[in-house]
Amino acid sequence: MKTISVNTGHPYQIHIGRGLLECIPKLLSPVCGARRPKLAVITDDRVDSLAFPDGRQPAQTLLTAFEKAGYSVCKFVFPNGEASKTLDTVRQAYAFFSEHEITRTDMVVAFGGGVVGDLAGFAAASWLRGVEFIQIPTTLLAMVDSSVGGKTGVDIPQGKNLVGAFWQPSLVVCDTDMLSLLPAETFADGMAEVIKYGAIFDRELFEQLERGGQALAGPGALEGIIARCVDLKRQVVEDDERDKGRRQLLNFGHTFGHAIEKQSDFTITHGHGVAIGMAMMARACERAGLAPAQTAARIEACCRAHGLPAETDIPLETLCKHAMGDKKRAGSDITLIILRSIGQAALYPAATGRLLAFMEGSSK
Ligand code: GLY
Repeated sequence: MKTISVNTGHPYQIHIGRGLLECIPKLLSPVCGARRPKLAVITDDRVDSLAFPDGRQPAQTLLTAFEKAGYSVCKFVFPNGEASKTLDTVRQAYAFFSEHEITRTDMVVAFGGGVVGDLAGFAAASWLRGVEFIQIPTTLLAMVDSSVGGKTGVDIPQGKNLVGAFWQPSLVVCDTDMLSLLPAETFADGMAEVIKYGAIFDRELFEQLERGGQALAGPGALEGIIARCVDLKRQVVEDDERDKGRRQLLNFGHTFGHAIEKQSDFTITHGHGVAIGMAMMARACERAGLAPAQTAARIEACCRAHGLPAETDIPLETLCKHAMGDKKRAGSDITLIILRSIGQAALYPAATGRLLAFMEGSSK
């Protein structure tokens, strides 16, 4: 097991390893001490019904482990998918908290992927003006990105993640055995974020990922990669907890990624959109002379090597229109995240009027 300590305003530990579900009560004891708060577990119907090949159900394993350790537990399950990440589901969670008398000394447990973590975190941040929560991410994307750093929130019709709160968890536990239950497409979604860390911060990690599936083979390889990504994110979040500067580098590929997701009515998933967004931005940077030759070709090849797309047929004008509505926009400027080279990114404020010209020809 690897452990990473995050020194944000509300400090916490992240544990990464195999077979950790049963150990979670033990990992929670430094947070709770002798206290036994009531635990409101929030999950979705897909995660709730998962089973390992030996028949063990992760959700049941988790609940039983908590109960054995003396916690009283209740469970709120909502339909899986981005369409559930709404204020309406949060309202249902509040009703559930009320019914189960979740008080300020109790805790919310987010057990699932990014949608579950973001929604449960926001429900925890806002219920009674804030109750503690822990993250138990079950997807690669949630392990390397959304469960770390305290961004919580939901989508509204006007856009993704437009309502939310910064609310750091009290503990994050990544049981990498959960990743064996992911469909290949969902695993690839997480790889897009992994590639992103290499592209913006860590040339060595990127070079490792250029080896495709081989990079993930061998004992401990995936765990090591997850820990590296989490540690890179830790450094950024400690520097810029409230996303005023450097943390925005983590949005590399996301402005156009979000636009692609939205335009496709979310049939193109987050990681797939981000992969295309990263390739688009790399092409635009190369064309503008901001990044050296071959940068875009390497990003594209790395995405493809991990089952991710690098092109889109959606007209650039449409994507730029969505990008203008992105929350990275400030007045008449939008902060683009550009690549200077593999392993080095920078913030690049651009007038929205120049966006289309900057991105011209970048879709393919
Ligand atoms: N997902 C980007 C961030 O946490 O800042």
